[in-house]
Amino acid sequence: MAFPATRMRRLRQTGLLRGLVRETELSPSHLVLPLFVQLGEDSRTEIEAMPGVERLSISHAVEEAGAAHGLGVPAVLLFGVPADKDEQASGAYDAEGVVQLAVRALKEAHPELVVITDVCLCGYTSHGHCGVIRGDGSVDNDVTLELLAKTAISHAAAGADAVAPSDMMDGRVGAIRAQLDQEGLKDTPIVAYSAKFASAFYGPFREAADSAPAFGDRRGYQMDPANADEAVREALLDVEEGADIVMVKPALPYLDVIRRVKEATRVPVAAYNVSGEYSMIKAAAAAGYLDERAAVLESLTAIRRAGADIVITYFAKDVAEWLQ
Ligand code: PBG
Repeated sequence: MAFPATRMRRLRQTGLLRGLVRETELSPSHLVLPLFVQLGEDSRTEIEAMPGVERLSISHAVEEAGAAHGLGVPAVLLFGVPADKDEQASGAYDAEGVVQLAVRALKEAHPELVVITDVCLCGYTSHGHCGVIRGDGSVDNDVTLELLAKTAISHAAAGADAVAPSDMMDGRVGAIRAQLDQEGLKDTPIVAYSAKFASAFYGPFREAADSAPAFGDRRGYQMDPANADEAVREALLDVEEGADIVMVKPALPYLDVIRRVKEATRVPVAAYNVSGEYSMIKAAAAAGYLDERAAVLESLTAIRRAGADIVITYFAKDVAEWLQ
């Protein structure tokens, strides 16, 4: 008895046709490379948990961004590692802060490179939380909003092409949009980390950005991994408040959320293939358990297939090289 022909198999057998019928495309043009920028001249600091990723001084960040851009990666996402931290996160909105200086240097060296800045306080507060802490140890949402808006304005004023609030305070997209408009920065888009889950996969990042909370955790303001309806509601709310792009983070354990957010919002969706997702592949590859290149290309293709228009990944430059 003959099995019904699986038509796709017939098509896949010849390489040429395989390309013609492929549904999902992975190209460097969809990728964003995160960069950790630190002060000091000519310095680079390895991040133990993220082999191949370093904190870079501004000059090296300019070089690295230029190399990625040259390979077809259109954008970078900046995280600053300030020299000093305090309760009010003053380094976050300092006009001469590390991110503000880096933005100016990057835009001057590579005017065509899209520079997106992460807007959060956790890298700048002495306690490592994403907002200002009240006497009882909880985050003061509304006071934090003002500081986040100030931070976003300072990034945009320095020349950032888009700002990406990652703090998860309530109402921050609206607050940032209102301030940007008021300051004459109407054309600066907001990339909102809308569905940001309280995830174990951020572990290596907290070493990289030196932003681990000194007490407690982020479950008060980040989302429960068990909730997908809530993620959709958060994304819709952010769009209503003025988000131009919404983000789901992490990516691989949340492919269903990416799909649902895409279908519900119909706005461009970014997915953040976070530090832990990077480190897992790196560690397994180093042990000889996985083929790094194949695992990365498969993972990123799957994230795109789930519905992500944009993929933020520490592998961006490697992928762009592999796809040349
Ligand atoms: C800051 C922020 C985090 C990440 C991006 N922005 C860490 C956190 O919330 O603890 C994680 C990125 C990664 O793991 O690669 N709020």
